[in-house]
Amino acid sequence: MRLLFLGDVVGRAGRDAVSERLPGLVRDYRFDFVVVNGENASHGKGLTEPHFNELRAAGADVVTLGDHAFDQRDTQSFIAREPTLLRPVNMAQGAPGRGANLIEGRNGHRVLVINALGRVFMPPIDDPFRAVEAAIAACPLGEQADAVVVDFHTEATSEIQGMGFFLDGRASLVVGTHTHIPTADHRILKGGTALVADAGMCGDFDSIIGVEPDEPLNRFLTGIPQGRFTPAEGEATLCGVAIETDATSGLAVRVSPVRIGGTLAQALPAL
Ligand SMILES: [Fe+2]
Ligand SMILES: [Fe+2]
Repeated sequence: MRLLFLGDVVGRAGRDAVSERLPGLVRDYRFDFVVVNGENASHGKGLTEPHFNELRAAGADVVTLGDHAFDQRDTQSFIAREPTLLRPVNMAQGAPGRGANLIEGRNGHRVLVINALGRVFMPPIDDPFRAVEAAIAACPLGEQADAVVVDFHTEATSEIQGMGFFLDGRASLVVGTHTHIPTADHRILKGGTALVADAGMCGDFDSIIGVEPDEPLNRFLTGIPQGRFTPAEGEATLCGVAIETDATSGLAVRVSPVRIGGTLAQALPAL
């Protein structure tokens, strides 16, 4: 099967790019399943219900979150009734919603999607490795699940690579999110797990990780806040990773980065 993962959607620019481009991508590349990280979709902070519905309507089978999961107040209520919206699995016990779920895609494939938060350069949280391992043990790849996708939301690329090697042979794709900067290390590990340290964002790259540069730059220079962070609203680049899996094992046989439109669109350099 063919899976598409899109990194953190940032603000209106990111949402518009997903709405405009995702339906055509699904059609042209025959994606069976799409996961989109939506933790910054609503003005850069969290995800409202209308914006969640927007991402779903564009073709996201599952929407994942991260450290901004509950920045919008209403998320606590609507996440409970949305099986296709996932917050990090290793949040405190009793957190609203769920961190992993087996979802059937448009062509009948069953995909286990897991969202987890890392611990390196991140606020304290439960062990993501054991939490993800428990979710996979309850729904193993090649048995209940035709594919397993882990969105590991954290700052350090080493921690994400650690998760990749930890799950090698047990997940179809381990992909990092959170830094908003796409990495160029996409590969398939020896056991058959596709790994990429960060998917990058769906947002305007004429910015500092999706934010208009003036205020973040001011804070780097002076340490004194002068205003709010404002999502940049120029044309977004759609960033992510696509994989193809083996029909029997569910492991990856191909992996490819995705960067479409905007400042970071991929193109051959002029020779
Ligand atoms: Fe984040
Ligand atoms: Fe983010």
